[in-house]
Amino acid sequence: MYKFWSNQKVFSSYTSSFLGFMALRSPFWLHCSIIVQLYVSLYCFSSLICTNGQRIFLYPQSDKVSSIVSKQYRTAFHFQPPQNWINDPNGPMYFNGVYHLFYQYNPNGSRWGDIIWAHSVSTDLVNWIRLEPALSRTAPFDIKGCWSGSATILSVNQPVILYTGANTENQQVQNMAVPKNHSDPFLREWIKSDHNPLIRPIGDLNPRQFRDPTTGWLGPDGLWRIAVGAELNGHGAAILYKSEDFVHWNRTEKPLHYTNSSHVWECPDFYPVSYERNRGLDPSAPGSGKEKHVLKMSIEVPGKDFYIIGRYDEEKDIFVPDNEIDDYWMWPRLDFGRYYASKSFYDSNKGRRILWGWSDECDNSTDDVAKGWAGIQAIPRSVWLDGTGNQLIQWPVEEIESLRTNAVYVQDTGLKSGFRLEVNVTDASQADLEVDFSLPNLEDAESFNSSWLADPEGLCGTQNVSWRGVIGPFGLLVLASDTLDEFTALFFRIYRDQNKYMVLMCSDTTRSSLREGMDKPTYGGFLDIPHLVRKRKLSLRTLIDHSVVESFGGGGLGCITSRVYPMALVNGSTHIYAFNYGSAPVSMTNLTAWSMRKASVNQKSS
Ligand SMILES: *[C@@H]1O[C@H](CO)[C@@H](O)[C@H](O)[C@H]1NC(C)=O
Ligand SMILES: *[C@@H]1O[C@H](CO)[C@@H](O)[C@H](O)[C@H]1NC(C)=O
Ligand SMILES: *[C@@H]1O[C@H](CO)[C@@H](O)[C@H](O)[C@H]1NC(C)=O
Ligand SMILES: *[C@@H]1O[C@H](CO)[C@@H](O)[C@H](O)[C@H]1NC(C)=O
Ligand SMILES: *[C@@H]1O[C@H](CO)[C@@H](O)[C@H](O)[C@H]1NC(C)=O
Ligand SMILES: *[C@@H]1O[C@H](CO)[C@@H](O)[C@H](O)[C@H]1NC(C)=O
Ligand SMILES: *[C@@H]1O[C@H](CO)[C@@H](O)[C@H](O)[C@H]1NC(C)=O
Ligand SMILES: *[C@@H]1O[C@H](CO)[C@@H](O)[C@H](O)[C@H]1NC(C)=O
Ligand SMILES: *[C@@H]1O[C@H](CO)[C@@H](O)[C@H](O)[C@H]1NC(C)=O
Ligand SMILES: *[C@@H]1O[C@H](CO)[C@@H](O)[C@H](O)[C@H]1NC(C)=O
Repeated sequence: MYKFWSNQKVFSSYTSSFLGFMALRSPFWLHCSIIVQLYVSLYCFSSLICTNGQRIFLYPQSDKVSSIVSKQYRTAFHFQPPQNWINDPNGPMYFNGVYHLFYQYNPNGSRWGDIIWAHSVSTDLVNWIRLEPALSRTAPFDIKGCWSGSATILSVNQPVILYTGANTENQQVQNMAVPKNHSDPFLREWIKSDHNPLIRPIGDLNPRQFRDPTTGWLGPDGLWRIAVGAELNGHGAAILYKSEDFVHWNRTEKPLHYTNSSHVWECPDFYPVSYERNRGLDPSAPGSGKEKHVLKMSIEVPGKDFYIIGRYDEEKDIFVPDNEIDDYWMWPRLDFGRYYASKSFYDSNKGRRILWGWSDECDNSTDDVAKGWAGIQAIPRSVWLDGTGNQLIQWPVEEIESLRTNAVYVQDTGLKSGFRLEVNVTDASQADLEVDFSLPNLEDAESFNSSWLADPEGLCGTQNVSWRGVIGPFGLLVLASDTLDEFTALFFRIYRDQNKYMVLMCSDTTRSSLREGMDKPTYGGFLDIPHLVRKRKLSLRTLIDHSVVESFGGGGLGCITSRVYPMALVNGSTHIYAFNYGSAPVSMTNLTAWSMRKASVNQKSS
């Protein structure tokens, strides 16, 4: 993703009132329009962070930082640099025993601009060492922007980066960079190819909407393939290219896929998926011919990551979606909340696919300037296909569990109607919870109204945590203040639709903070939970880390990332409750809650 203010244009070209309505109420917009208004003014708030692009590793603590934007909003175990703006994760890879994460970074402040590729490394995906930036705007082919891209490991000792540059004419072109010194275990320095730009936006491609190349994959003919996000005849597309040497690329006759329903696709991601828990497939390894593929794209309205599952014919380079619906509003989403521009990679270390995604702030950009930072990367997730083959499962990488401490258990505890039970963790602002709810009275569920499918997020707003249903709302209240005038609610509702059940998963942040002037949306979506009738169980996992709450419903079938800024965090006292406000009883068969230790994330440069 590279510019926010183009959104206004994209937005106004929608004619459908439904889409217009969705876009209007989209939380993404609020934040973005504020960025536009304030972009010129207030750029620097203290001399500390405005010293000619020199990197400062201290968190800025000037008198102008009010207690409101206290350090308490910084995360303890999420990926973020010491200061400044970040957005998309770039070029994640595992190479020679080291995990690399590059990311879009503004070295000059906490708003979008002056973007370069920052670089960090890790051996455990939890603790990170911050290195010097890998790519900066230096050449005619990237002088106006060093935007998102991917890493590909061409052979045992040959990692390369493909990234988007904005050239002198502000056209988006695709470039390559290689490590300067292969003996450096951290691959600190990268050299741009003499062949750059490798790919230009010619013909029917919009030259200003052509970006974010995928990781390459090797076909049975020995040629490399990549896809690039684009706008083709005004619509979203993933353009496919082939190459023998990774340098000279030919566009294929047809795109890998396209839609008639959206504008530009950003940050495409394309990979084979495994049905096996925590397993991933190497996209360049010969396929069995049976596996499915995922095509993911990021779409600016409504600022969400969508995906399509289908089959990829490697010989003919044709991707055929299982479901032919071309209206992207009906496609599944990786995360119903604040999660965008995600990118995955195959981790050859543990044979799994790992997904990174950016979560931007929900405060206003005045706050971001005062805080001195904006944006985090969500906890990396392992991704695989659920048994039905129709949806992805996402689960925080197991490494994050190494931070768990001081477990608290609650077992076989009934939550009768209207009941709220405090979960007494040591640190309620830095916690990981796993809970299994059992649903003895499933048959009593209210009936489902199919009109709700069009706007589950809106339904989470009207049938909010105070709206008492039959089965639900039940779930967790987190980051709750002593008097419960602040809380973030995560809950489920279950409806009956003829002979099946519809599960709504919601995150309601409307009461997350007493502070005004920020975005406090509701998020949500319907989950397709296999075996719900037989098992009568529904699980919820929630990771709480100061200003971020990441939730995984139904074992990872539905994800919601929320950003919240409670006053109670500033005062140092927050609580977690399990609750049931539905009229039917629900029981917690098993709840385990851990406090989380602080990870060492980008503390110092090396
Ligand atoms: C940071 O801002 C300074 C002053 O405007 C500018 O000279 C420098 O190029 C900027 N850094 C980057 C990486 O754009
Ligand atoms: C390459 O990296 C290795 C290991 O860090 C180092 O010993 C060597 O001096 C580097 N070579 C150059 C040319 O910088
Ligand atoms: C790309 O196109 C050129 C010119 O048509 C052709 O010579 C070359 O073999 C093609 N390469 C690939 C990888 O298709
Ligand atoms: C897009 O529209 C064109 C022209 O109306 C049509 O031929 C094509 O099948 C449509 N594509 C999809 C994916 O629906
Ligand atoms: C947590 O502590 C409160 C207050 O002491 C108590 O009422 C509640 O039962 C405790 N929760 C659990 C799960 O033990
Ligand atoms: C379903 O919802 C729509 C829109 O709110 C409403 O008009 C309709 O009456 C509802 N249908 C039923 C059966 O309740
Ligand atoms: C829920 O909706 C009701 C009715 O619109 C509203 O009064 C209330 O403030 C909303 N939020 C919560 C958290 O109750
Ligand atoms: C941002 O929030 C502050 C309060 O924290 C408020 O004073 C200011 O008006 C808000 N700005 C906007 C543009 O909403
Ligand atoms: C935080 O503390 C201040 C000062 O002690 C108090 O006025 C305020 O009500 C507290 N806010 C919350 C949410 O507890
Ligand atoms: C309860 O949940 C924890 C964490 O998921 C798990 O380790 C434990 O085995 C579960 N206990 C029971 C009795 O299911």
